[in-house]
Amino acid sequence: MRLPLPFLSLSALLVMTSACGSDPAKAPVRRDPHSFSNPEQVRVRHLELDVEVSFERKVLSGTATLNLERRDRGAQLVLDTRDLRISAVEAGTGKEFAAAPFAVGDADRILGAPLTVDLPGDATKVRIRYETSPHASALQWLDAAQTAGKQHPFLYTQSQAIHARSWIPLQDTPGVRMTYAARIRTPKELWSVMGSRHDFRLADPKEPLSGDFNFRMPNPIPSYLVALAVGNLERREMSTRTAVFAEPEIAPKAAREFEDTERMIKAAEGLYGPYRWLRYDILVLPPSFPFGGMENPLLTFATPTVLAGDKSLVSLVAHELAHSWSGNLVTNATWRDFWLNEGFTVYVERRIQEVVYGEARARMEAVLGLQELEEDLAKLPPGDQVLHIDLAGRDPDDAVTSVAYEKGALFLTAIEQVFGRERFDAFLRGYFDHFAFQSITTEQFTAYLKEKLFALDGAAAAQIPLEEWLTQPGLPVSAPRPVSDAFEPVDAAAAAWLAGQPPSGGFGEWNTHQWLHFLRAFSGKADRATLAALDRRFRLTQAGNSEILQQWLLLAVQAGYEPAYPKVEEFLRSVGRRKFLKPLYEELVKTTEGKRRAQAIYAKARPGYHPIATTTIDSIVGAP
Ligand code: BES
Ligand code: ZN
Repeated sequence: MRLPLPFLSLSALLVMTSACGSDPAKAPVRRDPHSFSNPEQVRVRHLELDVEVSFERKVLSGTATLNLERRDRGAQLVLDTRDLRISAVEAGTGKEFAAAPFAVGDADRILGAPLTVDLPGDATKVRIRYETSPHASALQWLDAAQTAGKQHPFLYTQSQAIHARSWIPLQDTPGVRMTYAARIRTPKELWSVMGSRHDFRLADPKEPLSGDFNFRMPNPIPSYLVALAVGNLERREMSTRTAVFAEPEIAPKAAREFEDTERMIKAAEGLYGPYRWLRYDILVLPPSFPFGGMENPLLTFATPTVLAGDKSLVSLVAHELAHSWSGNLVTNATWRDFWLNEGFTVYVERRIQEVVYGEARARMEAVLGLQELEEDLAKLPPGDQVLHIDLAGRDPDDAVTSVAYEKGALFLTAIEQVFGRERFDAFLRGYFDHFAFQSITTEQFTAYLKEKLFALDGAAAAQIPLEEWLTQPGLPVSAPRPVSDAFEPVDAAAAAWLAGQPPSGGFGEWNTHQWLHFLRAFSGKADRATLAALDRRFRLTQAGNSEILQQWLLLAVQAGYEPAYPKVEEFLRSVGRRKFLKPLYEELVKTTEGKRRAQAIYAKARPGYHPIATTTIDSIVGAP
């Protein structure tokens, strides 16, 4: 057995060694280095969660009951936890429970602490009574002031990558799938929603809320997809199987913005087969949500920063929806296989966009994606430029760069171009069916690719440097280079501005993608005078589109364009999306004066950010 040594405290090491016994035949083939759990010996199959939400104390408290498959009768159960207070553990057969000896090992900075339980020979269930910490890394507790309505508090979870363990004791590895049932008790005036099937009686506005919600997830899912939100929510139907949940103040806008969701589902189904999760709903969160979106099954969590008013940023929905195939159906077995989730998803996202909004838009999005990848490749160390990234000893949240996303998508595009869409589409559809509801490694993918696609056409296969794509930094010389006609006039206009000869017309018709491309052309090149002229002409400091505004503020910080400074502060204090924050803070800290401002802004903004964002920003600005 290969122990993930760099991670283990001594006590955990002893636990694992004893848990594995000395029989080499029982040693696992490969363990997830980001989990203490031992699913090859005892595997969690089902979770019954019963918790109460206390906004006063900022804790969840209650029980998690786990159904176990005992593969090795002699083995202890090992679970992942982080900052949980475990008050009791019982084990039994379901009818009867009896106290079981347990121990919480030393906490690792990245992994949290293992919880080991001695199981009686016949036990098939354990019940753990516990409470979360107010600082649980998956949970964000928002005061009423941080919501749109300002009347009620809000709570939401973010379990990916390894934060589920901070609110539920479980085997927190994507290699383990389980079904679940949950009972959530909340203050009476609030709604509770989970990424799972729920009782829609509660959707009737005339029915008073009971403060007692029941959920059920009948398909086996990995722990990183378990999700919960509690707040003052309204539900707006968009089609028979899609709805938006949001605070009443933004629900109408969100339902309009996302009204093409049903078309997107149909487009994906046309390509990759039936949508298997019954419903697809979208929960729009308060602006502190650290991500653009999170593909919690049946209920995507989304940032309100994509509500641009013109559907220009809805590729986010196409993306999270695409995960219903790539990720939620076929899941990465460990975080080093993360590109299987995100690379496939970006590829599928663009195919959906192409069907719903046309080829021109999908191309622009691909070009913008390639630009982000090139920027990241220029900054990242070689080891972080590979798809099959080695993350042992590191926080898997570090792997969230455009490499998994855009390089992964380019790799699939390369295969598509060589084999042709007909063969590649059939392959991908077969892949999703073949591995449905399983968690797979990169090696399993390549074996399947060779067998089902490469074997059909040796000459085509020879054109794809498979190993290079997966294990080498940078991009193969044969990598596809998406281009877009729509960016030609934009490039010309940017060049003219930079040469000091602003063109007089042509901007009126530009879409969001063209504006983004235009602004990116100024990166590292524009001085204050140029930015002042651009701002006079286009009022960019007042831009209402969050992507355009962020790109503009980045230029402003770069060039020291002071009239935009108040907006920089306002933006950093009102938005918690890590992708927006990180580049701005990184740019700010480059100068002494900027660093001082970054620290001053961060001191005020930090309490409003999610723990996942503060971990990142602390490392840039310094923890307070
Ligand atoms: N699953 C990811 C978000 C994620 C990845 C959370 C890794 C934690 C760890 C989600 O599907 C995603 O990729 N979101 C993107 C948006 C997308 C349009 C590229 C984001 O949040 O920026
Ligand atoms: Zn994704």
